[in-house]
Amino acid sequence: MPKRRATITAVGHYVPEKVLTNRDLEKMVDTTDEWIRTRTGIEERRILEQGATSDLGAKAVAALLKNRGMRADEVEIIIVATVTPDMFFPSTACLVQEKVQAKNAWGFDVSAACSGFLFALITGAQFIETGAYKRVVVVGADKMSSITDYTDRNNCILFGDAAGAVLLEPTDDPSAGILDHILRCDGSGEAALHMRGGGSLNPPTHETVDKRLHYLYQDGKAVFKVAVVGMADVSVEIVERNGLKGTDIDWLVPHQANLRIIDATAKRMGIDKSKVMININRYGNTTAATIPLCLSEWWQSGMLRKDQKIVLAAFGAGYTWGSVLVRWTAEHQA
Ligand code: UT7
Repeated sequence: MPKRRATITAVGHYVPEKVLTNRDLEKMVDTTDEWIRTRTGIEERRILEQGATSDLGAKAVAALLKNRGMRADEVEIIIVATVTPDMFFPSTACLVQEKVQAKNAWGFDVSAACSGFLFALITGAQFIETGAYKRVVVVGADKMSSITDYTDRNNCILFGDAAGAVLLEPTDDPSAGILDHILRCDGSGEAALHMRGGGSLNPPTHETVDKRLHYLYQDGKAVFKVAVVGMADVSVEIVERNGLKGTDIDWLVPHQANLRIIDATAKRMGIDKSKVMININRYGNTTAATIPLCLSEWWQSGMLRKDQKIVLAAFGAGYTWGSVLVRWTAEHQA
């Protein structure tokens, strides 16, 4: 029996209005616009002033439903990738479900940091491939400003808030949709990138607050070294094992953590920079949201078109990393 595949049939995103520029950050910590631009490629990022991750996610899902012309009660599953859930429980997926009034959906969260969207996407695809479900919404949403220490110049310049969402539906075309994936994790990466406060290891106390354990910690240099190799390795591997070359790929859709990591991945794959989705300059690192945000923006502008071959690639905390090969099927509606 031919394998039933999952394909992305609609996209949507949301970014909050408030813009935090490099110039603004110059007034908050000892940094410069020039340093941030040249070391990261970031010029500005968005900040959600009121509300939480579920508000970002719900707005992205609402945009997705509008783009697909679908009612919320037709959604069967909502999977939310996030490291900034509104609270430990209930899951952010439940809160999104309530906010969009997806009355017939169940759902859950996936925690894989910057690779969260890819982990959630492949999880969602399994429900379609088994034949059990037909409409799965996968959301990548993070309010990174809620765990960012705005006195730490190493990290506060990097992150922003956003959400993106995709709809997965079945296709009988074996050459369409989600064609292949490589996902990895290596928990030895915990030392270099974590938020240790608030969980069962360090339940919240005055001491955990004083030690700033409720903020994201990153040893940027250590993460950079493994990210630049890890993201490129799986991206090259997925192209090669599908009998393709970099020049066969229409778009590389990389996680937006650092422009230098993106450039190195494209170079290793033999992909021209004009075929790489880059919006890190406008949004910074929005963790689980970066990839669906790119997909949605490029689809909306008409540059991401039906039948194009694309590679999604990410690297993040865990460590977690991975790549996904997709033949795009969502038609652009002008
Ligand atoms: O998304 C999850 C995965 N995360 C990543 O992929 C992030 C990977 N890491 C990175 O992107 C980069 O390591 C950073 C952008 C975080 C940092 O860039 P870097 O080129 O690795 O800089 P560095 O940490 O080695 O710091 C270089 C210098 C240091 O000064 P000294 O020790 O050379 O005197 C820092 O103190 O730059 C200094 N520095 C800054 N200077 C101005 C660090 N942050 C800043 C800043 N402004 N904001």
